[in-house]
Amino acid sequence: MHFFKYRTGELYAESVSVKRLAKKYGTPLYIYSYSTLLRHFRAYTDAFNSYPHIVCFAVKANANKAILSVFAKHGGGADIVSGGELYVALQAGLPSKKIVYAGVGKTEDEIKFALQSKILMFNVESDAELREIDRIAKKMKTKAPVALRINPDIDPETHPYIATGLRAHKFGIPIEGALEYYRLASGLRNVHITGIHKHIGSQITKVSPFVDALNRLLLLVDKLRMQGVEIQYLDIGGGLGIPYRDEEPPVPQDLASSLLPLLKHRKLTLIVEPGRSIVGNAGILVTKTLYLKKGEGKVFVIVDAGMNDLMRPSYYNAYHHILPVMKRKRRTVLCDVVGPICESSDFLAKERELMRIKQGEYLAVMGAGAYGFSMSSNYNSRPRVAEVMVKGKEHFLIRQRETYHDLVRKERIPAFLNIKG
Ligand code: LLP
Repeated sequence: MHFFKYRTGELYAESVSVKRLAKKYGTPLYIYSYSTLLRHFRAYTDAFNSYPHIVCFAVKANANKAILSVFAKHGGGADIVSGGELYVALQAGLPSKKIVYAGVGKTEDEIKFALQSKILMFNVESDAELREIDRIAKKMKTKAPVALRINPDIDPETHPYIATGLRAHKFGIPIEGALEYYRLASGLRNVHITGIHKHIGSQITKVSPFVDALNRLLLLVDKLRMQGVEIQYLDIGGGLGIPYRDEEPPVPQDLASSLLPLLKHRKLTLIVEPGRSIVGNAGILVTKTLYLKKGEGKVFVIVDAGMNDLMRPSYYNAYHHILPVMKRKRRTVLCDVVGPICESSDFLAKERELMRIKQGEYLAVMGAGAYGFSMSSNYNSRPRVAEVMVKGKEHFLIRQRETYHDLVRKERIPAFLNIKG
């Protein structure tokens, strides 16, 4: 469910014409719908309402401060994986006491920053990291709150690049050895065990992997209790999918209905870390048709957005719906929608039957709100694009388009190469 709809053949973001925004702010352009963001965030808080919980938005899905502020304003927290994400989350007003920090490669500086900021907990991914956190916390004369990220060896049945909870993956601590790791943690003086964590993958379209993984974790929680280790926070990660094409993924309510009965009579605080299912369908990427080129049995629609602006199609072969911003009564034609980047993998859609589009007309790439801008780059020296948030009839520029100057701002030419000198 989202608020990008046609009104008499013209695509609107809430009550604002997408074409108007494209003309005002230029293209390529990310447009987000505030009401969609809020609706999806609330879908989680409502679904889990009957149980103590925190919705920690996965910042990696979209790190724009304005977007994070929406969740900050409505009681949300953050799931972070770097010092940079911690900085942005704090800037956006997300309370440090609702921030959880995962990732297999936390550096000393990042650990220090997180300890200084007094985050809720570290989701620790190895014994070496546990010892490192203990060492740094000792130096800082503090105690680090930790959860162990458990790898439950569950197949989430998703794209192999975004599955994380199988034995073969680099993430987490193998469930078989978990008790041993908790024992190690109990013996460290400068860490304090507060929780348990898992995240099995992303774009998951069934409830069963979540149920299986939670059951495995709960068995572990019980064993830990018998050994005198009390778990306070149960962090089940993110991963709920969205309908990019014809998927019918469960909604937060389905997840809650299956998981909450398993938690009855347990005194825990549940943490969920959704990213995509909150922000994915709340954002679109608008792009302008630059040229049309006849290919063999198809037309190349060459647009001004490339793989550097939206990486998902080229990187994961991901499907995104592409809609004309102005719907016309025209015949359809088989198209490859491609960008200006010098790589054959630079496409937004392949072999797609689309309404015949003309030079200068706009297209909207749907479902681009998650892992769209956040994975974009300056490849081919292309300034990163602008982002706009729409709320009802209003629109706000939430990130300026980068300039050519931005591309070289941080670079220096050593004096010996200075031709002027
Ligand atoms: N928690 C942890 C520890 C994670 O690693 C992730 C995502 C999430 C939460 C949020 O998962 P979500 O609810 O968004 O599925 N770039 C890929 C997705 C990578 C996901 C990485 N981890 C894509 O564009 O599909």
